[in-house]
Amino acid sequence: QDELFKKLIAHCKEYGFIFPSSEIYDGLSAVYDYGQMGVELKNNIKKYWWDAMTKLNENIVGIDAAIFMHPKTWEASGHVGAFNDPLIDNRDSKKRYRADVLLEDFLAKQDEKIEKEVEKARKRFGESFDEKLFRETNPRVVEHRAKRDAVHERMVAALNDNDLEELRQIILDAEIVCPISGTRNWTEVRQFNLMFETKMGSVAEGASTIYLRPETAQGIFVNFLNVQKTGRMKIPFGIAQIGKAFRNEIVARQFIFRMREFEQMEMQFFVRPGEELKWFDHWRQTRMKWHRALGFGDEHYRFHDHDKLAHYANAATDVEFEFPFGFKEVEGIHSRTDFDLGNHAKFSGKKIQYYDTETGESYVPYVVETSIGVDRMVLQVLSAAYKEERLENGETRTVLNIPAAIAPVKAAIFPLVKKDGLPELAHQIKDMLKFDYNIQYDEKDSIGKRYRRQDAIGTPLCITVDYQSLEDKTVTVRHRDSMQQHRVAIADLAAMVGDEVSL
Ligand code: GAP
Repeated sequence: QDELFKKLIAHCKEYGFIFPSSEIYDGLSAVYDYGQMGVELKNNIKKYWWDAMTKLNENIVGIDAAIFMHPKTWEASGHVGAFNDPLIDNRDSKKRYRADVLLEDFLAKQDEKIEKEVEKARKRFGESFDEKLFRETNPRVVEHRAKRDAVHERMVAALNDNDLEELRQIILDAEIVCPISGTRNWTEVRQFNLMFETKMGSVAEGASTIYLRPETAQGIFVNFLNVQKTGRMKIPFGIAQIGKAFRNEIVARQFIFRMREFEQMEMQFFVRPGEELKWFDHWRQTRMKWHRALGFGDEHYRFHDHDKLAHYANAATDVEFEFPFGFKEVEGIHSRTDFDLGNHAKFSGKKIQYYDTETGESYVPYVVETSIGVDRMVLQVLSAAYKEERLENGETRTVLNIPAAIAPVKAAIFPLVKKDGLPELAHQIKDMLKFDYNIQYDEKDSIGKRYRRQDAIGTPLCITVDYQSLEDKTVTVRHRDSMQQHRVAIADLAAMVGDEVSL
């Protein structure tokens, strides 16, 4: 799996999807640039989300708030006080880790050990294997689970109490070793704020410290009244936003999975107090459907319901996707109560309330949020789509099975040869389609090589113009996934491409 992931990263660079930031200076850690293919894919993913939110729901509208916000925003949101990660250093490797991530890794390893035992037993006993009984009674499984549960329980309590010394003690008791040095020389646990700071105004005038936003959500909360009043929105309603967020992540790893500059797509749904758990459930289901509609296979998704809740939440779940490095979070769905609006009211001194004409009451609305990383979605799509296939003729091809609706290029047009009027006809076809779809024209190398290049960037359709096209006004259309070819009248092409690329 590691090998596969490395290949995917190399592929992303080779075909213009993702480059390390400022690469000529050897890159900047955990910051990446999107290339000519990557930006198309990313824009298509954003549109897929934006339309699902704002077009399919008449009670959801969008905004685009600024990245810079009044510094008080982050006091009210709790980020200045609490947006901290507990960090621990290993004295030998001098590497720094998030204490909670080390513990999560330990829990995952215990789970793996259990599954290995079950798998071994299943192979040994075959048909007569009683898995449930085995899980309950096998001494090794029982021991692994007991260790796991004990660490989990202590970890949840320590994180809830923000008890740093206890976090260190759990790491020592569980005998967790540093992945680099292999030793248990752990320092004390310290807190570290993840927000990037900068100065606004000239130093001479007494510049003030402001932050790059660590989430887009606060831009929505501070605009709640503006949007509700000007849009005459009635509860329940939602506000959606796509934009950059910045976090000085300590453990930045796994390519674009955890970045220091990234993009979020967030939607805050404002509801009556007391109805939040109903809406939480609604959005939990709705968001999972949205992910699964891409067709990568339902088995690659699962929920991870939180028992460790952030200070503002009364219910939370993650949608996890099976990346090459295991199941990981792509989206969070959180019931945030009235924490944010309530605190902004307190810190700003403004009344932030909603008058409900149905109940005749005024209240601070409760919030259910859906929050997804654009870059993580890009990585999800690329890792699900990347395939190395062995063909019947013995050759291999690398193909990205990206759903046609979000593929960077929808169709490529090739003249069979560079003469006899074929390029001219191919250009005419391109001109006919280019206003509606991202189309590539390619006349270089053999048709086989051109197919491979398009497979590698995930183009669903290749259209070849040949001598027959001049006579009967038809072309060959080749499908990426099946590699099947058939002839289509040029007059029918636009409709055919339209059918293929709609979700
Ligand atoms: N407003 C709630 C919020 O920001 P979060 O769980 O911290 O919640 C939501 O972030 C989503 O943003 C995550 O599920 C993930 O997809 C994405 N995300 C968070 N930190 C990220 C990072 N450093 N790099 C890439 N994506 C990130």
